[in-house]
Parts: sequence; C-alpha cells; structure tokens
Amino acid sequence: MKQFSFMIKTFGCQMNERDSEIMGQLLSENGYIESMDMDNADVVILNTCSIRAKAEQKAMSLLGVLRKVKKRRPSMKICIAGCVAQQEGQAILQRMPHVDLVIGPQNLYELAGLLATLDGTPRVAIGMSDSYEIPAFIPALPRLLQQKELQSATPVAPFRKFLTIMQGCNNYCTYCVVPYTRGREISRKVSDIIDEAHVLVDAGVREITLLGQNVNSYGRTNQVTDAGGDYSFSQLLREVAAIEGLKRLRFTTSNPKDLSPELMRCFGEIEILCPQFHLPVQSGSNAVLARMNRNYTRELYLQQVADLRAVRPDIALSTDVIAGFPGESDDDFEQTMDLLEEVRFHSSFSFKYSDRPGTRSADFDDKVVEQVKSERLSRFQGRQDTICLEHNSLYVSKSLPIMVEKITEKGLVGRTDTNHIVHVEEKIVCVPGDIVTVTISHAGQHSLNGILQG
Ligand code: SAH
Ligand code: SF4
Ligand code: F3S
Repeated sequence: MKQFSFMIKTFGCQMNERDSEIMGQLLSENGYIESMDMDNADVVILNTCSIRAKAEQKAMSLLGVLRKVKKRRPSMKICIAGCVAQQEGQAILQRMPHVDLVIGPQNLYELAGLLATLDGTPRVAIGMSDSYEIPAFIPALPRLLQQKELQSATPVAPFRKFLTIMQGCNNYCTYCVVPYTRGREISRKVSDIIDEAHVLVDAGVREITLLGQNVNSYGRTNQVTDAGGDYSFSQLLREVAAIEGLKRLRFTTSNPKDLSPELMRCFGEIEILCPQFHLPVQSGSNAVLARMNRNYTRELYLQQVADLRAVRPDIALSTDVIAGFPGESDDDFEQTMDLLEEVRFHSSFSFKYSDRPGTRSADFDDKVVEQVKSERLSRFQGRQDTICLEHNSLYVSKSLPIMVEKITEKGLVGRTDTNHIVHVEEKIVCVPGDIVTVTISHAGQHSLNGILQG
C-alpha cells in the first residue's frame, strides 16, 4: 500500500508550533510519513496565523505558490489550518478553490479522519467546542526521536519543547483576533500537564516552555484543573520545576493585568526558572492602554518591572509594542518611547498596528496613517537596537552557563538562561541540551560570542 507523505508549514506563535507537532504526530500515527519537500508531499498543511495583516498575507502568498504545484500534481491535498482557517472558514474556498480542507485550531484532532474521507469535495471543519476540556495529548516517544533526525524541520529541537497549558483567551484586547480564533480561555488539567512534562523529560528534553496566551490566569477561568480550589500558575510552575532531570523552565506569554506578586516571587525561589520574562506592554500611554482594553496602567507596569528586578536583578525583560494604534497621538507615542527609556528592555517585538477582522478597533476612528506608523515603528526599533547592544555589552567578560542548541562546523551555538544566543568557535564533545560554561568575549546587537571555560 502506498504510504502518503505530509509536510506542515507553520506560521505564527509557539501555540501554532505545538499544534503543528500534534498534527504531525496524528498523521504519523495514521501511517503518513513526514517530508521536507513541498513539491512532492502528498498532503501540505499550512498552519496559519492571523494576528497581523502581514502574518495572514504570508500564508496566503504561499497558498498562491501551492496553486501552481497543484496544477502540476492534482493529487496533492492542500489543507489550511490555524487561525486564518478559523477566521475565514468557507470564504477561503471561494477565494482559493484549490484548497481541500480548512480546519480550525479546535478541530485538530479530526485531521486524520477528515483527510481519509476527502472525496474530491473541499471540507471545512471550524466548529468551536463549548467543552471546557482540552484532550490529553501525550507526545509520542518514537516521534520525539524521529524529530531528532529531522531536526531542521522542527521549529525547536527535541531537547527544548513547548508544553501548552491553556487555550484561547477571554481578554478581548480591542485589536486582537485571538479570542475569536482560539475561543474561550480553558486551562488544561494539572495532571495532564505534569504527565506530558514527565514524558518530555524522560525522552531527553531539558528545557520546557509553558504556553498560553495569558498563562498568568491559568486555573482562574473555566477551570477544569483537577487540583481543585485556587490552584494558580505559580503552583503549576513549582510542580513542573520539581521534575527531576529538567534543567530549565520558561513560560510565555503574560498579560500584566494578571501578574501576581506570587508569580514574581517564583523568579527568586525556583532555581530552574530562567531569569527571563516576556511581559507585553503594547503602549506607554494610559489613554491608548485604555482604548486597547488592557486593564492596567503605565504606572502599574513600571511598578511590576521594579518589583521583578528587586526579586531577580539579572532578569532579562522583553516586551511587545504596537505603533500607531487608532487615535495614538504624537504625545501618546512619546510616552511609549519614554517607557522604553525607563525600562530599557533587553529586547522587544514591535509592530505597526493593523486592522483585524471582527475586532473592535477595526471600527475605531482616527486611524493613524501608514507613514506615521512606519516612522514611529522605526524610531522605536532604532532606539531598542541601541539599548540591546548596551545591555549585551554588559555580559562581556562574564562567565555564563549556556545550553547547547546546535553543533556547527565551527563550534557550537548555545543559549543563556536570559535567552541570549551565544556563538562559540571551539570544538568540544557535546550534544544539544548539554550545559557548558563560557566567558563572553564579544557582544553584538542580537547575539553574543563566547569562549569555552576549563
Ligand atoms: N497574549 C499576548 C499577545 C499575543 S499576540 C498578550 O496579551 O500580550 C502577539 C503580539 O502581536 C501582541 O502582543 C501585539 O503586540 C501584536 N498584535 C496583536 N494584534 C495586533 C494588531 N491588530 N496589529 C498589530 N499588532 C498586533
Ligand atoms: Fe490578544 Fe489580549 Fe488575549 Fe493577548 S491578552 S491574546 S493581546 S486578547
Ligand atoms: Fe497567530 Fe493564532 Fe497564534 S493568530 S499568534 S497563530 S493564536
């Protein structure tokens, strides 16, 4: 019997990366084999992201390329998954009749069945579940090992893994599609999370990143946690951290409005919790934050930064910023620049605001013109780049443990616990996941260089 091959191309956030792994595992378990070759795969899945207009365009332009491949090879099946699938549903088929299957993030588990029953008529599966339970889905050991051989194809090598602890979001920030594409916020069961973490660590994973759109509110909404009572994200962190063999623990992402003092204390108390925190601020102006429906103020944010640094002085803070939100005045934007000066983030992701379908801000007046958005964005990024370099220079001469990520021809590439990439041009016998100590010899804007110690 012919074995079908599949290829998954992932766009967007780490949650999509984990979802792609799940789809890959489901297909492997159903007899498909993974391929790296889009031109020859029997099934091509685009796991799409809709967070910004540009993200959506990227997937759509690849879909245009696939149209040509399908002309040559009509037996190929094209599947659109992820947040654009959820958002557009049937409309994708009108625009792109060469698509065979449209499948939303909450329908992942139906993938193999749907593919097997495709009969030439395109199918759309975007039903949002109203169940408050996320299926337990344990990563299969054979697949983890197979991924080791296919390292280039996986977004994160097997010694580092993402673990989804919740899905959806209830916050309805006015610019954001996530509550519409991922549905209600649901926390996974503690026991499922701990089981999954054990499987990962037993398979050789040394670093786990807990994932959710707002992990700080884990267990607080629609909870199905089997721990009962007031189980919090901090408690979950402590339980995962206690797993023997795990060397590093991270989490992402967090809304400042739900950042508790208890969680901040974890940075001083949990040894393997990395001193790195992604805390998206979006804007430094209270007026803009209010129109974004973020439910915190600039003052609260700055206080949180001070508190985090008091608990863990070496913590590396990163953030997300939107430039040119509707109604953002020059003065509002100056306040964002000013906040950057006050906090001096180690790094940041910044984006031009774009309207997203169905969001409230898409209907706001006072849209900022494209050129002003671009100017603001490049001013922010220019200043952040300088600050990055200044921060990175402070690591020079320091001795730091790095986790090896890749063995290269010249030496190796590793990562500090503060999430900085370090290039080492020396050879030693090691494998990805090992921790070695280096002395930082040079700092660039986006990475460091180091010399092996001892
Ligand atoms: N859950 C996270 C954010 C996830 S989305 C949080 O609450 O902070 C990742 C980032 O994309 C956001 O932080 C925001 O900076 C950006 N983003 C989201 N919607 C956007 C839009 N419509 N235009 C521009 N940037 C947007
Ligand atoms: Fe979007 Fe806000 Fe939810 Fe983050 S917290 S996913 S920005 S709605
Ligand atoms: Fe994108 Fe959906 Fe993630 S919109 S950022 S893939 S939750």
